[in-house]
Amino acid sequence: MEKAEIGLIGLGVMGSNLALNIAEKGHAVAVFNRTTARTGAFFEAAGDLRKMIVPCTTLTELTKSIRPPRPIILMVPAGPVVDEQIAALREELSSGDIIIDAGNANFRDTVRRFAELENSGLTFIGMGVSGGEEGARHGPSIMIGSTEEAYARVEKILLDISAKYEGEPCAARLGPNGAGHFVKTIHNGIEYADMQMIADIYGVLRDGLGMKPDEIGAVFAEWNKGRLNSYLIEITAAVLGVTDQKTGQPIVDVILDRAGQKGTGKWSAIEAQTLGVSATAIEAAVSARILSSLKDERLAAQQAYGGGRFAKFEGDRGAVLRDLELALFAGKIAAYAQGFAVMDAASREFGWNLPMPTIAKIWRAGCIIRSQFLGTLAEAFEESENLANLLMAPAFVGMMGQAHPSLRRIVARAAEAGLPMPALSSALAYFDLYRQGRGTSNLIQAQRDYFGAHGFERIDSKGAFHGPWAGGG
Ligand code: 6PG
Repeated sequence: MEKAEIGLIGLGVMGSNLALNIAEKGHAVAVFNRTTARTGAFFEAAGDLRKMIVPCTTLTELTKSIRPPRPIILMVPAGPVVDEQIAALREELSSGDIIIDAGNANFRDTVRRFAELENSGLTFIGMGVSGGEEGARHGPSIMIGSTEEAYARVEKILLDISAKYEGEPCAARLGPNGAGHFVKTIHNGIEYADMQMIADIYGVLRDGLGMKPDEIGAVFAEWNKGRLNSYLIEITAAVLGVTDQKTGQPIVDVILDRAGQKGTGKWSAIEAQTLGVSATAIEAAVSARILSSLKDERLAAQQAYGGGRFAKFEGDRGAVLRDLELALFAGKIAAYAQGFAVMDAASREFGWNLPMPTIAKIWRAGCIIRSQFLGTLAEAFEESENLANLLMAPAFVGMMGQAHPSLRRIVARAAEAGLPMPALSSALAYFDLYRQGRGTSNLIQAQRDYFGAHGFERIDSKGAFHGPWAGGG
């Protein structure tokens, strides 16, 4: 075999699937794993693709096997392991070689690593990869932050291995250094919001309407044929139909209600706050996972407050189901508006010039939040270049105008019934605040001025003013 086109370090689930994907698309790939036995096992299992794979037992062997300038993908756990791996590679690589971090890195680490490598002759690519195991094997969505030069070296491979939406590759260079990992982080923040909003609705169907998992699954399957069509709705319908082999119960009923999280949702919320952007649905989704982890406290609070019993949603079930579908759609619009607003602020703050229509387009296939909706979203960004907020795109004004009354009814009924709707109620509050021409922050300003002489602006004249507060101001 001629030299490999690219290298890959880390043959865990994501790494091995990505390596097989690369090989299958006709690009020879050299692979290395710290535990050599895993490299051997991976190679053995690769079948016909073995002819496109070079298994390596040392980093020296790996680098020697790749055509310079050598691109090497790291698919190792985010955090210190990436730094350790970079340090080890620096000993082996030569000027022009490219280290590609394909994990879920914090973009601030990516910016730092990029800067640290800048004067060494090596270059760094921060690459967000979405789509889980299946995506890695058959076509993920790929979000790239890099120099144009480094991208040119790997562009063909990345476009070839990416998911395709109607023939268009779901991979793009979105900006320099941390841009790709930032966009991946916000993808995950939106993923958290999408998942929590679905869970909010599941709660109403289960506890407000008393439906069984298979019935709820059928509702989601039906919704998946319409405006909510998406991977997350599809898998929700699927998991609700699965039976636990041990008990014969629906599997969702035997899964503990304690959600895990690895950090990307939290980073989205932190970055939103740092950038001064409101991302209430994403924040609420992260908070809901935190509260979900307090299982024992929640059980004690249920005892103390008599929770866990819910007033049933009475009335025309068909009408309630239609409202639930539209409520979820309205929440989705608000959550995506928030996620894109965070990216817009980051783009300006870091001078990235993020291409919003492209981001929406490369999320249409391959990634976890892929959906029909993202096509509409891409069109909205294409039509209005300087869109302040997705909620102001003409098509979305129409859709949200139609959907928000349902969101309002559902959140109100859920509140009365005692059913929590963390993400959907936050999305509604965001929408109501956003569309309120005269808000209530005049009072906040008065209070700030009263206790701290912070000053306020007036509606009738320019400048800073203080109030005639008794005893101060
Ligand atoms: C993806 C997923 C992927 C992973 C998340 C899950 O886009 O393919 O988002 O990155 O499944 O890390 O995150 P939590 O463990 O935080 O839920």
